[in-house]
Amino acid sequence: MTQKCQMLLGLAATISAAVLDLPVEIRNSYSSVKFSIGSPPKEHNLLLDTGSSTSWLINTDCTESSCPDRSSPYYTRQPYNASASSTSVDLDIPATIPFLGGDVSGQTYQDTFSVPGDDNGLEWNQTFLSANTSTWRFITSDGFLGLGFSSIAEPNTSTLVETLLQQSALDSPRFGLFYGTNLRDTGPQNGVLTLGSSHENKYVDGETIYTPLRKEDPYQLWRAPLRSVNVLVAQRPNLPNSTVQIINGKLPTTSLTPGTFPRANTTWPMFGAGRAVFDTGAGRLSLPDEIIGAVYFNLGWNLTKLYSGEERMTCAHLNASWAITLTLGEAEQANDVSFSLRGDEFTIPGDQCMLPVDASGATGFALVGAAFLRRVYSVWDFGAHNADGYEPRIGFGRLKPEWDYMYQ
Ligand SMILES: *[C@@H]1O[C@H](CO)[C@@H](O)[C@H](O)[C@H]1NC(C)=O
Ligand SMILES: *[C@@H]1O[C@H](CO)[C@@H](O)[C@H](O)[C@H]1NC(C)=O
Ligand SMILES: *[C@@H]1O[C@H](CO)[C@@H](O)[C@H](O)[C@H]1NC(C)=O
Ligand SMILES: *[C@@H]1O[C@H](CO)[C@@H](O)[C@H](O)[C@H]1NC(C)=O
Ligand SMILES: *[C@@H]1O[C@H](CO)[C@@H](O)[C@H](O)[C@H]1NC(C)=O
Ligand SMILES: *[C@@H]1O[C@H](CO)[C@@H](O)[C@H](O)[C@H]1NC(C)=O
Ligand SMILES: *[C@@H]1O[C@H](CO)[C@@H](O)[C@H](O)[C@H]1NC(C)=O
Ligand SMILES: *[C@@H]1O[C@H](CO)[C@@H](O)[C@H](O)[C@H]1NC(C)=O
Repeated sequence: MTQKCQMLLGLAATISAAVLDLPVEIRNSYSSVKFSIGSPPKEHNLLLDTGSSTSWLINTDCTESSCPDRSSPYYTRQPYNASASSTSVDLDIPATIPFLGGDVSGQTYQDTFSVPGDDNGLEWNQTFLSANTSTWRFITSDGFLGLGFSSIAEPNTSTLVETLLQQSALDSPRFGLFYGTNLRDTGPQNGVLTLGSSHENKYVDGETIYTPLRKEDPYQLWRAPLRSVNVLVAQRPNLPNSTVQIINGKLPTTSLTPGTFPRANTTWPMFGAGRAVFDTGAGRLSLPDEIIGAVYFNLGWNLTKLYSGEERMTCAHLNASWAITLTLGEAEQANDVSFSLRGDEFTIPGDQCMLPVDASGATGFALVGAAFLRRVYSVWDFGAHNADGYEPRIGFGRLKPEWDYMYQ
């Protein structure tokens, strides 16, 4: 990868290390950041996607049938126009990216990227896909910002963060993400994606707890080893208001007096095959197929009946009496870390309430999307500037109340 990028980018000796703070814009629940692309620069919003690697944006060849657009009224797309940019380079390599939720295809390009309003004046050549076909009709952006690893990027492309790392353009080999105190479309938003650093001091209450990624060669996604999934239900008929307390990094507890056993405290082990992918491009918390029915059963529900409408979960059922916890680790069990979402954290003030979790579509596999990531400050750490030295880990810190949308 290093070789490939040097060939594409040349070595720009003038670049000095920087920290880039990009405002997160949330529109119709999709989160994106803005880059200036081309010469003269044009602003484009790219959706945050830690679940893919090659960045792409729709281009001016798109038609209503090849790139259907239902982003209105939340967003007006700005397609990339290569002929209007004097710095665009057509690498003449067609590519197709198959996603779980849609497909994108087009031509591989390189052009100049910068961050609007960046004081460092950082400008770099970035590879991406200029797409004339995209089935992503609802996204409120011009394309995706791939934040995975370049090992799974399309030929002759490199992720934006790794492109900057290879040019020693970033202070630290990491990025930090805060979704903001306002997840709605109206009113000021204050989320921030920080490239080259992270701002735990500002946002995190207590400690940021890290899990190493699953050992893989090469690393592809932000994929951690899933040891087990736990459901804890504190509520009992005679103690209707019992709640669970979440502890960052550990299993949750209850304030029930010792000896009163929680109604449910069930752990499903993944027998060494479990994995959890942290994906800003996903909206939900999706659990391994083989346990999803049992998870609902432990919460007092029957999934078949929930799907058929015979049982109905309402906002009142998304409450503080229960929590779902993922325990991550593959080495010494004593080093495992656990991250929870409490029932009430599945709601966004003012939004509709939905079934809290769904099935991931695979055994042993959890897909952790915005439902969890917006509840924490997350740090995505490569551990080294160079791919040969990567020791990636991902860290989560509970938000300080003043930065938590649930307490505004
Ligand atoms: C793209 O840019 C070229 C050159 O500036 C211009 O002639 C053309 O009209 C633009 N295309 C669109 C769809 O805006
Ligand atoms: C794309 O990558 C291949 C393999 O590294 C290389 O041979 C080729 O020259 C590259 N193409 C361009 C246009 O950079
Ligand atoms: C997209 O561009 C490719 C060439 O890069 C071309 O073969 C294909 O027909 C185009 N598709 C559409 C829908 O315009
Ligand atoms: C971008 O690449 C072009 C060649 O394709 C080169 O002339 C230019 O100096 C590069 N710019 C930066 C900022 O590296
Ligand atoms: C439980 O909470 C509700 C609402 O806050 C309250 O009305 C009720 O008295 C509480 N029940 C007990 C047993 O504490
Ligand atoms: C739940 O079970 C685990 C063991 O699986 C135990 O370590 C934990 O203390 C239990 N939690 C509560 C609140 O009883
Ligand atoms: C859930 O409901 C279905 C349909 O009524 C029933 O067949 C099934 O036995 C129920 N499952 C449990 C665990 O009670
Ligand atoms: C809290 O949630 C649980 C699980 O969904 C549910 O059984 C219980 O009835 C809820 N409590 C209240 C007070 O609605």
